[in-house]
Amino acid sequence: MNRRTTRTTRTARSTLAAVIALAAGLALAGCSDSADAKPKLQVSDAFMPVPNGDMAGGFLVVKNDSKTADKLTKVTSDLSDDITIHETKNQKMQEVKSFDVPANGELDLERGGNHIMFMGLKKKPKLGENVTVELHFEKAGPIKVDLSVKEATYNAQHH
Ligand code: CU
Repeated sequence: MNRRTTRTTRTARSTLAAVIALAAGLALAGCSDSADAKPKLQVSDAFMPVPNGDMAGGFLVVKNDSKTADKLTKVTSDLSDDITIHETKNQKMQEVKSFDVPANGELDLERGGNHIMFMGLKKKPKLGENVTVELHFEKAGPIKVDLSVKEATYNAQHH
């Protein structure tokens, strides 16, 4: 009984710490918005290699022709409730909080590098279909794009 009480207290404490950290983050984000600056972003080369199991990757290029840098912070889609953004380091992928979209530059999500990761697919997209996703940017807001489903070995020919 005693042991159980201790454990509960510890859990409550770490939950509280998490809430405080979250609140601090929100306050910070609130401070940094400089109203006018809404970058114009263009998305191209958006595709998904036809998935083989219940996971899939998404790749695209985001072009930013403005002086304001942005960040891709989240991706949502009807295809999955578990979508994260990953970077690849030393051939291992790991989740990241955001991807930078530099001012007058671009963010490349490409095979072997940064990508969108879809887990627990609700259905299996077929070759030639489109998968609609919403890209959430810190400043530009949400942008809807269609990923065209390509062969498993497909690679975009940009650059
Ligand atoms: Cu991944």
